[in-house]
Amino acid sequence: MLLFIDTANVNEIRAANELGIIAGVTTNPSLIAREGRDFAEVVKEITSLVDGPVSAEVISLEAAGMLQEAVQLAAIHPNIVVKIPMTAEGLKATRACAARGIKTNVTLVFSANQALLAARAGATYVSPFVGRLDDIGHDGIGLIYDIVEIFDNYGLPTQIISASIRHPLHVLQSAKAGAHIATVPYKVLLQMIKHPLTEQGIDAFLADWAKLPKQG
Ligand code: E4P
Repeated sequence: MLLFIDTANVNEIRAANELGIIAGVTTNPSLIAREGRDFAEVVKEITSLVDGPVSAEVISLEAAGMLQEAVQLAAIHPNIVVKIPMTAEGLKATRACAARGIKTNVTLVFSANQALLAARAGATYVSPFVGRLDDIGHDGIGLIYDIVEIFDNYGLPTQIISASIRHPLHVLQSAKAGAHIATVPYKVLLQMIKHPLTEQGIDAFLADWAKLPKQG
């Protein structure tokens, strides 16, 4: 399973990228708004930091407007993936993007049927939102298992991005379920690094090393 970072903050992207683990970036309008900067400028800067897919979302609700935005976004950099909401208009726009060779990430997916529709419309990626489903008492990871099974049954090439990740267990469970990618907030990436036994182990090794008789 590949790891993307789910943020529009360039400092977080730079820091995560230095770890050598990041294969792409996802943003959404809320994440961009948090940065208080021009949308196209932020997205362009992100493409200069990470050599991989960078998802940027459209705002229009009609297919024609989505397609117009998609063409503009795709012109920013070859790594841009256009994020399109999972609606009837979004499906039309996804099909139109596929016909033009524009990569898409169909977002706000909360059911396996929605994922199947997006895949049939030619989506490059689908983003099921695990955390938001858990928030309302549904089984977010169960949805990943269902989509993996359906896509495998029919050899659908659309890649599954496990999104709305809240904690390291979501990442582990997404990998076990067979998601192609998990898009992970920076805070959760840092949590994944840490284990108390690793820290205790380092402390013990250094303490033992300090007991060695000094030479010279
Ligand atoms: C990523 O593509 C999504 O926009 C993101 O994971 C949503 O996460 P949230 O539910 O924490 O806002």
